[in-house]
Amino acid sequence: MTITSKQPNVGTTIFTVMSQLAAETGAFNLSQGFPNYNCSPKLIELVNHYMQKGMNQYAPMAGIMPLREILAQKTADLYHIHYHPNDEITIVSGCTEAIYATMAAILHKGDEVIVFEPAYDSYVPSIELNGGKPVFVTLTAENDFSIDWSVVKSKITKHTKAIMLTTPHNPTGKCLTQEDLAQLAEVVRDTDILIVSDEVYEHIIFDNRLHLSPASHPELKQRTFLCGSFGKTFHTTGWKLGYCLAPVELTAEFRKTHQWITFASPTPMQYAFADFMKEPDNYLSVRNFYEEKRNKFINWLKGSRFTLTPAEGSFFQMVSYNQITDESDYELAVRWTKEIGVASIPISVFYHEKYDNKILRFCFAKDDEMLEKAAERLCRL
Ligand SMILES: Cc1ncc(COP(=O)(O)O)c(C=O)c1O
Repeated sequence: MTITSKQPNVGTTIFTVMSQLAAETGAFNLSQGFPNYNCSPKLIELVNHYMQKGMNQYAPMAGIMPLREILAQKTADLYHIHYHPNDEITIVSGCTEAIYATMAAILHKGDEVIVFEPAYDSYVPSIELNGGKPVFVTLTAENDFSIDWSVVKSKITKHTKAIMLTTPHNPTGKCLTQEDLAQLAEVVRDTDILIVSDEVYEHIIFDNRLHLSPASHPELKQRTFLCGSFGKTFHTTGWKLGYCLAPVELTAEFRKTHQWITFASPTPMQYAFADFMKEPDNYLSVRNFYEEKRNKFINWLKGSRFTLTPAEGSFFQMVSYNQITDESDYELAVRWTKEIGVASIPISVFYHEKYDNKILRFCFAKDDEMLEKAAERLCRL
């Protein structure tokens, strides 16, 4: 039997390729975006506790109420954004599901979604599988990956349904500024354009920056789906738990699609997070934890020929190898994994036309020993 592929151009992702190559060659794997250390033992104890207590059946479709309540409180305390746990907060199976369920809820055939490149790899398939069309705005190293809002404005048509945003951004590590939000508000004013905001790295943000969700802007909140994750903040990417915060009318439509995708997300983990988040330090401390790692990694790279701008957020550091070679970033990432034993991600894979900035992305969510040894090898180049 054969079926006509709905995604004929989708093959094995670079993340699988690089991780496999790293495993085969014994290279330090600084490619994929997950920690090589464990989450808090307290969290594991809590999951165990709730499993023993019998919390092993379906959770409510929108998530357990204590977790929705603590998310509402955290969002109000930190960002002064208010969502009602009843009908504006939904727990889902990871931010990837939040984005997919949003696209499934909002897109009709032919609708356009503005996507900034480099873009996280799930955005475009989520749009296309739901009948939408990505309209790309290309950000490059030349402009420091910042957004020219006049270009965004020029891409708006009568078919534009949404703008997809990421802050802090993967792979660039850039964060939206107040000025970005003001310009965004101007672009969408007097339109029905929605905003889908991926904020999985909200707590991993450096140098005393404030995390600025589009939902924190008074004009933008009403049109924003704020998609988040517990995975990056709590070193639990494998638990695949996330959430979507959105005004009541948007949440009503979001829940309709969420219920056909997963219906509900794992129960014991939800109870564990609801307890664990009662102590704000459990999510606030991750900022310093990663800032230290970023600083150490950059410091260890000081003797190298790479050039870089320190990441503003996320756990990725981009480095330019312009002064070492003019090879393509893809070939180079593969070659260096094999030859020097350090795996990275070429950022051309985040562009639909594989735009090559001569930049590699290193994930610094790794133990210090691995980061130091990897940097030592990179300094020899
Ligand atoms: C920008 C971005 N969004 C979403 C995700 C996935 O989040 P989750 O595991 O909660 O689905 C990742 C993971 O790497 C990411 O970098």
